[in-house]
Amino acid sequence: MAATGKTHENWSSRSAFILAAVGSAVGLGNMWRFPAEAGENGGGAFVLFYIFCVLLIGLPVLLSEVLIGRHGQANAPESVRRVARDSNAHEGWSILASLGVLGAFLILSFYCVVGGWVVYYIGVFVGDLFQTGLAGGAFEGRAASDVEGLLPGLFGNGGLMVGLNLGFLAVTMFFVARGISSGIEWVAVYLMPIFFALFLGITVYGAFTGNFGEAVAYLFTFDFSKLTGEVMLAAVGQAFFSLSLGVAGMITYGSYANRDTNLGETSGIIAGADTAVAMLAGLAIFPIVFAAGLSASAGPGLMFQSLPIAFQAMPFGSLIGLAFFIMVFFAALTSSVGLLEAPTAYVFEKFNITRPIATLIVGLGAAVLGVFASLSFNEMAEFYPLNFIPLFAETNFFDTLDGVTAKLFMPIGAILTCIFVGWIADAKLIDDENGLDGVLHQTWRALVRFVCPIALTVILLAGLFA
Ligand code: PHE
Repeated sequence: MAATGKTHENWSSRSAFILAAVGSAVGLGNMWRFPAEAGENGGGAFVLFYIFCVLLIGLPVLLSEVLIGRHGQANAPESVRRVARDSNAHEGWSILASLGVLGAFLILSFYCVVGGWVVYYIGVFVGDLFQTGLAGGAFEGRAASDVEGLLPGLFGNGGLMVGLNLGFLAVTMFFVARGISSGIEWVAVYLMPIFFALFLGITVYGAFTGNFGEAVAYLFTFDFSKLTGEVMLAAVGQAFFSLSLGVAGMITYGSYANRDTNLGETSGIIAGADTAVAMLAGLAIFPIVFAAGLSASAGPGLMFQSLPIAFQAMPFGSLIGLAFFIMVFFAALTSSVGLLEAPTAYVFEKFNITRPIATLIVGLGAAVLGVFASLSFNEMAEFYPLNFIPLFAETNFFDTLDGVTAKLFMPIGAILTCIFVGWIADAKLIDDENGLDGVLHQTWRALVRFVCPIALTVILLAGLFA
């Protein structure tokens, strides 16, 4: 049990912690957002800069976050406060995690909208399996434009969008309300292994049937001229989004870690697994896209529109499509659980109420925002909440939530985390927590103190104003 927080739980084992953290990291960010962002930002330059961001910025920040949580053994703002107190520093630093809690809440509210689309496609493929049978391609006898039209068709139905969104949120709430060992750990321990099995199968299948060479060339050819400030900010934002950083999520998960877990090693595993899945997702999706002659820059539609067309031409297409969307559903759920947990843990401990009530309060808030996010694709398509800011001009509510969190909340949260861990917190305390020795420790420390905050500030300014 934690030193002070009477209700604060712990993971039942180190592997449970790793699975839950990998579960939080691997999600729609890898399968849906990464290919979309890579395609919209020109491929290779974006991807290589993304990998650079993961190694030099994401990984050091990830270790900083879990370390704060593990020392604090409490919800994210309280954990920062405890590290500050034990370092004789100002407790006001907890603002970095309070902002993060808000950021996680905002992401949750649009994340569940996309989770709803995934559920819709599961339904579509189940229906198709019954209609066209097992062996043939998906949607036999239907035009490609018909298949591509599935998503706009869904967008046109505001009521269904809201229903699916709230359904996905409700499932997320169910598991978070059950707590760490019987809820959050349960989804991670059962769903993540199934996810990895399905993922491997589909990637191998994609590699053999699709245009693998062209995808490799597209994703890994570095064209320096394409690396603008905006592309760099998009890449850093994607790295944070994918690693669940800058929004208190990993501080919260770290707070359930035991003293004997080596955090340096664990952070490496989490970042490695997450990046591997993103790369493999790209290598699974783009070959299919190229083989079918579709555009790489289809953006958010890439996973939902291009892939189903590709499944049309495949033997066992309906079955593969169904397996694919079930897999994405599992990955999305283990992430949405992480997104809901950060604000819930805060509300729950701060206001001294039960966990189910705290889940309900946060969930209802996310439901309200989620309705607006769902309606961004239909009834409220012309509503641009931050139209007066150039970066978010003519951006609907859904895209504004996504852009504000990935391009502002996450980098700013990370900059503050680096300054706090690198300069403010007691060096001895940090040294005791991080599980690193020798050169690795020196390197990590230099990255957190100098490289990350400077690079992030430059990228943030370049992305916003250049
Ligand atoms: N990393 C998750 C994904 O890639 C999203 C997420 C962000 C989860 C922040 C928790 C906290 O889908």
